[in-house]
Amino acid sequence: MRLGVLLSGSGSNLQAMLDRVADGALAADIAVVIANKPEALGLARARAAGIPTACVRHADFPEREAFDCELVRLLQASRVDYVALAGFMRILTPAFLAPFAGRVVNIHPALLPACPGIHAQRQQADHGVRLAGCTVHFVDEEMDHGPIIIQAAVPAFADDNEATLGARILDLEHRIYPQALQWIAQGRLRLSGRQVLLDGAGRDFSGPFWTNPPLEPPFDR
Ligand code: GRF
Repeated sequence: MRLGVLLSGSGSNLQAMLDRVADGALAADIAVVIANKPEALGLARARAAGIPTACVRHADFPEREAFDCELVRLLQASRVDYVALAGFMRILTPAFLAPFAGRVVNIHPALLPACPGIHAQRQQADHGVRLAGCTVHFVDEEMDHGPIIIQAAVPAFADDNEATLGARILDLEHRIYPQALQWIAQGRLRLSGRQVLLDGAGRDFSGPFWTNPPLEPPFDR
């Protein structure tokens, strides 16, 4: 699987993917990493791993569609099969999604459909939820909305704030995103309406990380 990664910031999820590719758990070739901000730390992480990078500044484009078309051009030039959004802070239009229909995934730091949009960690902390978490999902034209591939739950405590809860969630993000991508690389996901069916999915919830579907080796360690 040739994967393109779009990001805007730190790129810790990209790093988790790079680490899993390096240790052989994720059978993906990260073909290109594209940011919309030149200062995105994720670009430096990609360069350090020898991955081709590009920066496309959204401010240089008059409309969202023109920006999206440039992203598509670069991804297609890199012969990308799937696109992983990893902290990419732009809304994608049909100009992007049509050419990659069903082949774009995103990670969101909440248990969707709760707390979509920005500052999801703060929303959860402020709301006083008991179970927070993260979601990897296919991307459709509505924000944080497409079919769910995997979710992970973490406890939220009364003394949590955006930062403490966010850190707990992020640790699980780094586990579930490479796992979801590996299922895609293995060709094990199928869509049935909004349900994402995982071929050979387990139902064991006794592990240290409460995810659904359960993590499989080596992602469960
Ligand atoms: C993560 O919390 C992710 O869920 C959200 O943006 C953040 C990106 O973090 N979509 P990083 O750049 O991967 O460190």
